Amino acid sequence: MTRKAIVLANWKMHGNLTLLQNMSERLNRIITPSNLDVIICPSFPYLMSAKQMLMHDNIVLGAQNMSEFKAGAYTGEVSADMLKELAVKYVVLGHSERRSLYHETNSLVALKVETALNAQLTPIFCIGEREEDRTSGQTEAFLSAQIQAVIDKIGIEKFNDVVIAYEPLWAIGTGKTASPELAQETHRFIRAFLAELDTDIARKIPIIYGGSVNANNCEKLFQQPDIDGGLIGGASLNVDEFERICLTIKG
Ligand code: PGA
Repeated sequence: MTRKAIVLANWKMHGNLTLLQNMSERLNRIITPSNLDVIICPSFPYLMSAKQMLMHDNIVLGAQNMSEFKAGAYTGEVSADMLKELAVKYVVLGHSERRSLYHETNSLVALKVETALNAQLTPIFCIGEREEDRTSGQTEAFLSAQIQAVIDKIGIEKFNDVVIAYEPLWAIGTGKTASPELAQETHRFIRAFLAELDTDIARKIPIIYGGSVNANNCEKLFQQPDIDGGLIGGASLNVDEFERICLTIKG
């Protein structure tokens, strides 16, 4: 069975219309395997333009965050239905920057995952341990707790429509990527953890790696049997580099 392959551009609070235009022109021309989704996640104000500029069937839109509420008096928030209206297919939830800088807890992330699924958006559910968790041998316990919080909220069956992004915090934006072996070992653990509840879901769920992925290190990461793609931050802001990453992944 081949799982869906995913390359996701997380622009964070970077980029502008010029980057969007240049990226779209380049990506609209690339040839990708049919089971690859390239997901472009610009900031909210650019989603409408991105919808108009991206023409490729396999290049889809994602959002970087979303409200846990359906609608209401929540100044400054963006709802799942609004994203749907702009043809957004995926939404990044529980990114470590949201967890650490905006105090998003496991239970809030679980609620957002539920809200996204209710709106037929595919959550890119992010998990990852801190450096001290890894050095103290707590990586598996830490990741299990993050996953379990969402299982408790939505049930394991709903993971049929979820993508997991594993991003060790010590690798995000640091240039210090996890070795392909270490990333593979952790991805295998995540799959095994899910398999205890549902082997079919564990086999099918895409698990992508994030943290200082670039055009030079992506090939070995993507070759690992349990790594189904990448969540790319810094390197997704460079058109040449991001194109190379998209062309490296095999469907
Ligand atoms: P990075 O960011 O590729 O710059 O490390 C990854 C991310 O978006 O979390």
